Amino acid sequence: MAVSSAPGSNLPGTMTSAAWAVAGSLIAGTVLSIIIAAKAQDAPMAAHAWLFAFAFAAGVMVLGQRHLNATTHGGAREDDGTGYNDGVVKAGAIATLFWGVAGFLVGVVIAFQLAFPFLNLDTAFTNFGRLRPLHTSAVIFAFGGNALIATSFYVVQRTCRTRLAGDVAPWFVFWGYNLFIVVAATGYLMGVSQAREYAEPEWYADLWLTIVWVVYLLVFLATLAKRKEPHIYVANWFYLAFIVTIAMLHIGNNLAIPESFTSSKSYSLFPGVQDALIQWWYGHNAVGFFLTAGFLGMMYYFVPKRAERPVYSYRLSIVHFWSLIFLYIWAGPHHLHFTALPDWAQTLGMTFSIMLWMPSWGGMINGLMTLSGAWDKLRTDPVIRMLVVSVAFYGMSTFEGPVMSVKAVNSLSHYTDWTIGHV
Ligand code: HEM
Repeated sequence: MAVSSAPGSNLPGTMTSAAWAVAGSLIAGTVLSIIIAAKAQDAPMAAHAWLFAFAFAAGVMVLGQRHLNATTHGGAREDDGTGYNDGVVKAGAIATLFWGVAGFLVGVVIAFQLAFPFLNLDTAFTNFGRLRPLHTSAVIFAFGGNALIATSFYVVQRTCRTRLAGDVAPWFVFWGYNLFIVVAATGYLMGVSQAREYAEPEWYADLWLTIVWVVYLLVFLATLAKRKEPHIYVANWFYLAFIVTIAMLHIGNNLAIPESFTSSKSYSLFPGVQDALIQWWYGHNAVGFFLTAGFLGMMYYFVPKRAERPVYSYRLSIVHFWSLIFLYIWAGPHHLHFTALPDWAQTLGMTFSIMLWMPSWGGMINGLMTLSGAWDKLRTDPVIRMLVVSVAFYGMSTFEGPVMSVKAVNSLSHYTDWTIGHV
């Protein structure tokens, strides 16, 4: 259903006071980046400072160009007349495809490197150690992250029957997030890493992501706040849990002291085993909230929509939502079985992981059962087929995970390819 802009509101694309504030911040950011580039203590820092400077300057020019286009054409070019802001959703879908292809390609390259070590090419830039995080970050954060941002923006508008809040802000989220991806990826190639799995980017990239993520949260919340539907549909609960918890995890896991503001190196605030626990508190909940809660948000909108059936049990969706987010946050220690982590903490992680099986399957069952009466669509609709296969695999990995969390099983499976196969 189309929605219309509020009467008297600015034409999308023209400079509002918020857009002027963004332009001012981008100009300040450009100047700061050039100063840091001039004083940088290492080559990667200089390269990234220049990258930020060019990106911020390009942002200012795009804002100006957009304003000119909007005043000439009576609205932003990307406005398709539905009343929804779908331009940013389309950009997100294209970025998802692009990063998917790039990420999978690097995955193929590193797989070949494992089999044929000469493919490391004997240069620091192309060795497995640098390309592996390039692959994992590309598929999880670039491919998955763009899919999450794009679908959350699509779903929240439809389920709230309102246009996405802000005009520049959603685009800032999209471009800001992709700038973070480029900084992270080029950093890995240059050897910049804080050696925290799935959180390798250094302090300045983390700070930038924090700014982008806060704006993402504000756009999402402001859209919910101006909804024309009295009810907040469950998909939005999952997306919101994803956005809020990732913010908390990202900040907690990246608390670090930079060597200096002109150096790309930082040192974690936590020592020894506490650091390991923080890392896996983050690591497991990146699985739980990035790869699970957000994607369940996607499931709760697109499965019923495609199957043309209501969600199997709305009550189950609420129960498994709250139990999922309560249990996931305690399961991280199962990544540290038989390490220096106190035994009680390992057992706690194991216990919560086993309990986690139930809310996980609550989601899977709700997704699959939504197809009751529509199973025939599996024969004709490839989209439903993909959705069902995804939900089925989700069910398998969330059965296997609790089993692998049992210490006796983990003593066999850890350090084997079984762990990798679990995903
Ligand atoms: C109930 C849910 C889950 C539980 C209890 C669980 C548990 C586990 C356990 C015990 C390991 C092995 C740790 C080790 O021996 O090193 C593991 C690894 C992993 N799991 Fe899960 N898992 C769950 C769901 C998922 C899902 C849905 C995904 C992805 C979509 C996922 C992604 C991963 C990844 C990426 C690793 C490898 C971590 C590493 O880098 O070592 N897990 N999980």
